[in-house]
Amino acid sequence: MNILFAASEAFPLVKTGGLGDVAHALPIALKQLGDDVRLVLPAYRDVLAAMDLLTELGYWDLPGAGVTHRVRVLQAHYTSLDDGLEEYLYLIDVPALFDRAGNPYVHPDGYDWPDNAERFTVFSRAVAQMAKGIPGTDWKPDVVHCHDWQTGLVPAFLSMFHPRPKSVFTIHNLAYSGYFSHSDFTILNLPPEWWSPEFVEFYGGFSMLKAGLAFADQVTTVSPTYAREICTPQYGYRLEGALQHLGDRLNGILNGIDLDIWNPETDSHLVQQYSVTNNKVINNKKNDKHDQQWLSAKFANKQHLLSKAGLPSDDTSGKAPLLGFIGRLVEQKGLDLITSMLPELFASTDAVMIILGSGDSLYEAQLKLLADKYPSRLHVHIGYSEDLAHKVEAGCDLFIMPSRFEPCGLNQMYSLRYGTPPVVSFTGGLADTVTDTIAATLKDKTANGFVFKEFNAEALLLTIKRALNLYKKPEQWQQICETAMAQELGWENSAKKYQALYRD
Ligand code: ADP
Ligand code: GLC
Repeated sequence: MNILFAASEAFPLVKTGGLGDVAHALPIALKQLGDDVRLVLPAYRDVLAAMDLLTELGYWDLPGAGVTHRVRVLQAHYTSLDDGLEEYLYLIDVPALFDRAGNPYVHPDGYDWPDNAERFTVFSRAVAQMAKGIPGTDWKPDVVHCHDWQTGLVPAFLSMFHPRPKSVFTIHNLAYSGYFSHSDFTILNLPPEWWSPEFVEFYGGFSMLKAGLAFADQVTTVSPTYAREICTPQYGYRLEGALQHLGDRLNGILNGIDLDIWNPETDSHLVQQYSVTNNKVINNKKNDKHDQQWLSAKFANKQHLLSKAGLPSDDTSGKAPLLGFIGRLVEQKGLDLITSMLPELFASTDAVMIILGSGDSLYEAQLKLLADKYPSRLHVHIGYSEDLAHKVEAGCDLFIMPSRFEPCGLNQMYSLRYGTPPVVSFTGGLADTVTDTIAATLKDKTANGFVFKEFNAEALLLTIKRALNLYKKPEQWQQICETAMAQELGWENSAKKYQALYRD
């Protein structure tokens, strides 16, 4: 089938979170299964700059906010990716809307770009035009697969075309709904008949995400548990009614991870590569020599990470457990639980911690204060670093992810693959990928991490302490790490589920 993927970010060109990873890896997995997938992104300045060659395929004149924009569709040629997608990358070029420095959604001073409603309405109009046929080519999509609020209007625009391709809308995070005012709605020249609670109107304004729910042929989200959770008031952001109404048009399909990029056996960000699974498959029995190899390689990565972070790395026994956190510093990620339990954790254990992230200035400031107070126990790196993210996944002993809600979460899966058991809250994709360590799961060898159910700092602290107790028991600890590393985390199964949905 011909699938047009429309997203507002895709690794490695532009990424602010997991959506970027998914928009890169899922098309590749679908291609490997035989579908013809093409990806369309806005032509942000940094993306244009990364291209080797751009070919203009055609243009449309499309309405924006009270003006008409000349919207060019460019075929991008980008040879530094060797996964085959570079041949089929299209960019929607509207310099007034996308040719600007920095983050795709946020001004350098931290506030949303004031013209976001216009930017993603025009992008969505252009994607819908592409669905009729891409200028200069004879390629037409059978399905347009859209992601998050930035493309929520695509299914709505498509609904006005006959014939039209089918549309799939994937919710990666319900907390971001693309909510704008009635005056935005009017100036963007959107059809007045959409202004109803049944379609896009939402508590006095309008929501682009709601447009996706109302108009798409199928709606998915990124884990089965989150699909159930968002139908309840606790997680539904006042859209639970609309989501319940979807019935079996709403499906949860668990994300996978890119097994090439997140592979401790080949990862060039690491000082020593390691793996346990391949060797086990080859030998089909426990191989002590190899076990030592992954342990000692992981330890070398730990020492390197500690010294890079300026934390004491002279503990050659490696006893002091190293905890890691990577992520956007926002309410969703449960930073408040981490900051409130850290003093007690440091007082009562020998654990040290590395935190990598950026986001809300409040959390950034709180974390910096804590790092100043505990310089030999806590390193905080405010910023975005792919390199450090790989090093943290590999070099830490435990990965901490106490999310309030987590549609899927990729970091806990990266940590599983790197033999760094995650400590997670029981929600969304975390609940679907992490099996708590208790006597029964240790016995049947399914334990791969640590899960807490009551969402508070005390429960997080107790669970970390529970993990640290096991950390002192090398045999059990290694078993948990090996179970984690051997887990099926790739995209193949989930890509097959998307294929089945497209064909349905
Ligand atoms: P979300 O999409 O909610 O941010 P995910 O766990 O699904 O959460 O994905 C986050 C992705 O972004 C991961 O690939 C993670 O490594 C990456 N990431 C987040 N913050 C940073 C950072 N400060 N530096 C490097 N990578 C980061
Ligand atoms: C979102 C979610 C995250 C998910 C990612 C990719 O940003 O917060 O849980 O893994 O999208 O689907």
